[in-house]
Amino acid sequence: MHPVLDARLQAVLELIQAEVHADIGSDHAHLPIRLLREGRVRRAVVVELHPGPLAQARRHVVRSGLEGKVEVREGNGFAPLHPGEVDSASLTGMGTGTIVGVLERAGKRLPPTLVLQPNDSPRSIRQWALRHGYHLTAERLTPGYWAYPVLKLERRTGSDPAYGGVPERAALRYGPHLLRQGGALLRGQVQDDLVRLTPLAAPGRNAESELATAQEALAFLDNPT
Ligand SMILES: C[S@@+](CC[C@H](N)C(=O)[O-])C[C@H]1O[C@@H](n2cnc3c(N)ncnc32)[C@H](O)[C@@H]1O
Repeated sequence: MHPVLDARLQAVLELIQAEVHADIGSDHAHLPIRLLREGRVRRAVVVELHPGPLAQARRHVVRSGLEGKVEVREGNGFAPLHPGEVDSASLTGMGTGTIVGVLERAGKRLPPTLVLQPNDSPRSIRQWALRHGYHLTAERLTPGYWAYPVLKLERRTGSDPAYGGVPERAALRYGPHLLRQGGALLRGQVQDDLVRLTPLAAPGRNAESELATAQEALAFLDNPT
């Protein structure tokens, strides 16, 4: 079995290189199977909360012939892992709120490297990273049903250099690396936000500050300094 990854999971795969990696909320287990096949990780742990996806992950791991290198565990977030057991982890295809909730509950089980692919705005993941000593070391925006963001976080000391020289509000919403990279996908996302938010913006409304953030992002994309 050699699963084909869609663009978002391919981008996630390319950001992972570890001895032992955990894929939390793996479902089909395609990502850990490909990580092992390509030698990007030596061993993997799959964590799944729900019985249907858990059974599917187990079936796919058996079919891949990689049972000796992937362990499938039932449980919530990082709870089935021991502190220090993995040096890297991914959470993909989930809402930002779910991902942040899992990170908040992880405590000492959190590994030094995280690769995250939320299905909606990753602003609160970026805010979580700033509060918890993780630097945003890489970002991708991949095409799909929506434009899917992929974030790589690494535990580091000091302030995160990723935010230097980019407007902060826009960087938290759209991504400091993504703003610097520019690109049609991000520009399209910002322009869609401008169209959607313009009729909603009124003094004191959330849409007003979201609109100002999108305008700030567009100004930076037009004239990066
Ligand atoms: C939409 S699927 C994404 C599957 C795969 N990661 C991907 O990107 O294609 C989300 C999976 O996360 C699992 N999940 C949700 N919350 C979880 C949690 N707290 N701990 C472990 N698994 C969880 C769900 O059971 C589901 O299988």
